Amino acid sequence: MQEQEVRVEALLSEMTLAEKIGQMCQIHVGTLGWPQGEDRIRRGQAGSVLTVYGAAKINQLQRIAVEESRLGIPLIVGNDVIHGYRTIFPIPLAESCTWDPGLVEEAARIAAEEASADGTGWTFAPMVDVCRDPRWGRIAEGSGEDPFLGEAMARARVHGFETGDLASGRKLVSCPKHFAAYGAAESGKDYNTVDISERTLRDLYLPPFRAAFDEGAPTVMSAFNEIAGIPASANGFLLHTVLRREWGFRGVVLSDWNAIAELIPHGCAANLKEAAEKSVLAGVDMDMVSDAYHLHLADLVNEGRVPLSVVDQSVRRVLRLKLGMGLFERPYVDESLAGQVILRPAYRQKALEVTQKSMVLLKNSGGLLPLARDLERIALIGPLADDHHHVLGCWYRIGRDQDAESVLDGLRAVLPSTTEVIHVPGCDLEGRERPDLEGAARAARAAGLAVLVVGEGEHMSGEAHSRAYLGLPGHQQALAEAVHATGVPVVAVLMSGRPLVIPWMAEHVPAILQAWHGGIRTGRAVADILTGATNPSAKLTASWPRTEGQIPVYYAHKNTGRPATGAGTVQFDKPHWSIYIDEENEPLFPFGYGLSYTRFEYRALAVETAQVGLDGTLIVSAAIANTGDRPGDEIVQLYVRDRVGSVTRPVKELKGFQRVSLAPGEERQVRFEVPVQRLGFHGLAMEYAVEPGDFSVWVGPNAAEGLEGAFAVIG
Ligand code: BGC
Repeated sequence: MQEQEVRVEALLSEMTLAEKIGQMCQIHVGTLGWPQGEDRIRRGQAGSVLTVYGAAKINQLQRIAVEESRLGIPLIVGNDVIHGYRTIFPIPLAESCTWDPGLVEEAARIAAEEASADGTGWTFAPMVDVCRDPRWGRIAEGSGEDPFLGEAMARARVHGFETGDLASGRKLVSCPKHFAAYGAAESGKDYNTVDISERTLRDLYLPPFRAAFDEGAPTVMSAFNEIAGIPASANGFLLHTVLRREWGFRGVVLSDWNAIAELIPHGCAANLKEAAEKSVLAGVDMDMVSDAYHLHLADLVNEGRVPLSVVDQSVRRVLRLKLGMGLFERPYVDESLAGQVILRPAYRQKALEVTQKSMVLLKNSGGLLPLARDLERIALIGPLADDHHHVLGCWYRIGRDQDAESVLDGLRAVLPSTTEVIHVPGCDLEGRERPDLEGAARAARAAGLAVLVVGEGEHMSGEAHSRAYLGLPGHQQALAEAVHATGVPVVAVLMSGRPLVIPWMAEHVPAILQAWHGGIRTGRAVADILTGATNPSAKLTASWPRTEGQIPVYYAHKNTGRPATGAGTVQFDKPHWSIYIDEENEPLFPFGYGLSYTRFEYRALAVETAQVGLDGTLIVSAAIANTGDRPGDEIVQLYVRDRVGSVTRPVKELKGFQRVSLAPGEERQVRFEVPVQRLGFHGLAMEYAVEPGDFSVWVGPNAAEGLEGAFAVIG
C-alpha cells in the first residue's frame, strides 16, 4: 500500500495538468474515429477506453499508451460484461431467480476469465439497481425488486469478477451501477425522472451498492437519472456525502455514457463547461465519452473554478486502480490466450446448470409436465421455437448466435429419434408479417400436444427498451389462442427480459415455463425441464402483475391506513379501502413464487428466540418435507414484519433464504439465523437503527404464503 502510494505521488508529480485530465477521460475510439482515438491516447489525453473487444485490438491501443505517450501510463479497458462474455449466461434477472449466490458467483467468475483473457480489464457490472417496474427494460439487467436478495447477488457477482487467479494474470475490476436509484424511473420509461424520499433511497436502492463496496468493488458508475431535481452525475449528496463520507469509498466514480453532457438537457448546466464543473465538483472522477473534462477542465482549473486538488484526487484514484490491477506490470495480454479460455466445455456445462436453475415453472395443471419421453409426435410452435439469437438476451455483445441452442435443438437432443417434432413458427415476433394461425393449429392437431415458444426478443428489453404493454408482442397472443382453441394440451415456454402480463395464458394454458433469455444453453435447459430430466426449482424475484395498471406491484408494500383485507376484488362492498374497483391488489404471481415437479410441505414453525436483544440473533426454523415422488430443490424464504415503527414499515421483508435439496419423502429442519442488526431501517432521525418492538415472522415458499410466528426485539 505504502509503496503504491509512493508510486502514485511520483507519477502525479511528473504529470502536466493536461495529462492529469487525460486520466479522467474515457473515450470510445469507435465514435471518435480510430486514428483520432489513437492520437488522443498518444498525447496522454485518455486514461481509459471502452467497448473495444479482442486482445489484438486492445494490445494495439495499449502499445500506444505505454510506448508512445510521454509517461507510458497504461489504459484501463472497460466493457459491458453483464451476463457472460462469450459463454452467454441467462440475463441477470433470470440468474437471480436461482436464489443461488454461489452459482451466480461462478457465472461471474467464468465471465471474468473469458473477458480478461481477451484483454478487458474493467466490467461495467454488476447492475445492482432494484426495480419494481417491469415496464422498464433494464429490469432484465438487475436482480429484481428486493434489496436483500439484491445485496446477496451484488456480493456474489463482485466476488466472482474480482477474485481468483485469472488465466490472464491480471485482475478484472467491477463497477456496480447505476448509482443511484435508476430503477425508480417514473412510469418505467428509461432515463426518466426519479423522485423518491431519502428514506426510500437509503432503505431500498442503496443497500446493494453498499454490499458491492463491502465486497471490494473499487469503482462505481454514476447514473443518468436525476433524483429529486439533481442528476446523479452531478449529485454531491450521493457522491460525497453518502459514498465517500459515510461509506468511506476510496475508488473511482465513472459517469455513465455522456451523462455529464446530459446535464445540459436535464436543465442544470447551461453548457458543457458548466456541466464539467458541476460533475467534477460533485465527485465524478472519470468522464465516459462526453469530453466535457477534455475540453473544459483545464480552463476551469486555470480560472480557479475547480481546485487543482480536486483533479489531483481523481487522478490518484485512477492511478491506484491501475496499479492495483497490475496493469503497469502486465499491460498486454497474450493474444493466444482467449482461444484457450473462451467457451471451454466446463463453462458451457456451468451455463447449462445456471440456466436450468433460472427457469421458473409458473403453472402445471394436472401434472401436464414433465412430458412423457416416448411421445410419438409433438408440435413445436412459435417464433422463438428455433431461435438462436434472442435467447442471448439484452447484453450479449460478443456472444454469437452460433453458440446458442434453440428449443428445437434441445428437444431434438433429448427426445428419442422416434419422436417426430413438427416445427411451425406460426408468426414473427413483432407482428410484421401475416401470421399462419391455421398452419399452427393444424400442427397442434396433428401432434396432439403443442409446445408454444413465445415472448419477447432480446431487443424488447434492456437499455432504452421500455414497454407500455407487457403482453405477448405482435400476433403471438392470437397464435396462443389459436393453438389453445384446437383443444390439444398446450405447454407454453415464455421468453422475456421482464415479467410479462399474461392473464389469459395463466387462466387457459395448463403449463407455463418462464425461460427468460437464458443464454447459449437455453434450448437444452428447456428440453431438460420439459422432459423431466431436470426438476425446475427457480423462483421469481419480481412480481408478475395482472395488468399494467397495477404497476408498481411488489410484495414489500406498505399497509396504508386503509389496507385491503383479504385477497380478491372487494370493490363494491368495501368502497373506501386501498383497492381498485376493477382489479385485485395481488399480483398474478408473487415474488418468490415458482413450482416444482414435486411438492413441498412446510411444517412446525419454531421461533427459538421469542425475545431477542438488539445485538442478538433471531433463530427461526421450520420443517420442510418433500411429499412428492421426485427429488427436488426448494427455495425456503424467511420474511419479517416490524409491526410498529417510528416510520411506517413494509408488510413483509425478506431477511433470509436457503436452497435445500430433498429426496422424495425426506423432511429437513431448515434453520435461519438472522442478526437482529439486519432488521433495521432509516427511522425518524434518518439514521439506520433497529427499533425494539413486536415482529411477525414467516417461513414459506413465496412472499404470499408461509407459516407465521412472532418475536419481540428488546432494547
Ligand atoms: C449504459 C451503461 C453502460 C454504458 C457503456 C450506457 O448507455 O447505461 O450501463 O455500461 O452505456 O456501454
